Amino acid sequence: MIPVITAAVAPSRYTFECLTKGAKEFTINIPSDKTENAINITGSMSGKNTDKFKQANLEIIPGKRTKVPTIKDCILSYECKIIHECESGSMASHRLFIGEILAAYASNEIIK
Ligand SMILES: Cc1cc2nc3c(=O)[nH]c(=O)nc-3n(C[C@H](O)[C@H](O)[C@H](O)COP(=O)(O)O)c2cc1C
Repeated sequence: MIPVITAAVAPSRYTFECLTKGAKEFTINIPSDKTENAINITGSMSGKNTDKFKQANLEIIPGKRTKVPTIKDCILSYECKIIHECESGSMASHRLFIGEILAAYASNEIIK
């Protein structure tokens, strides 16, 4: 069994364009107290015309196993390679991107 995680993304998102036309990789980053306010910006603005990292004051860390970065000061980050895609069906008009977790990083905050 390989470790996987699924991201559900609507076709209208710029993220969708990145996932389907880009490197076929993504990272999942769980915010900490330090980065949680960024969700208001990253979850409401589109990266199509805006540098959301800059707007949300987020720093990136180059991926070690992927070409895509992780986000600094998160409690948990996964670097993933897309191994399968499918439609979500009647649940919502999202596509499910199933990523094999190639690397995982956790902060001491959740390890201790
Ligand atoms: C808490 C939260 C969770 C969200 N989860 C999803 C999600 O699972 N899939 C999705 O497509 N959009 C989700 N959204 C909406 C997108 O984050 C939002 O439309 C964003 O502006 C898209 O940016 P993009 O165009 O750069 O991809 C969520 C928003 C918030 C605030």
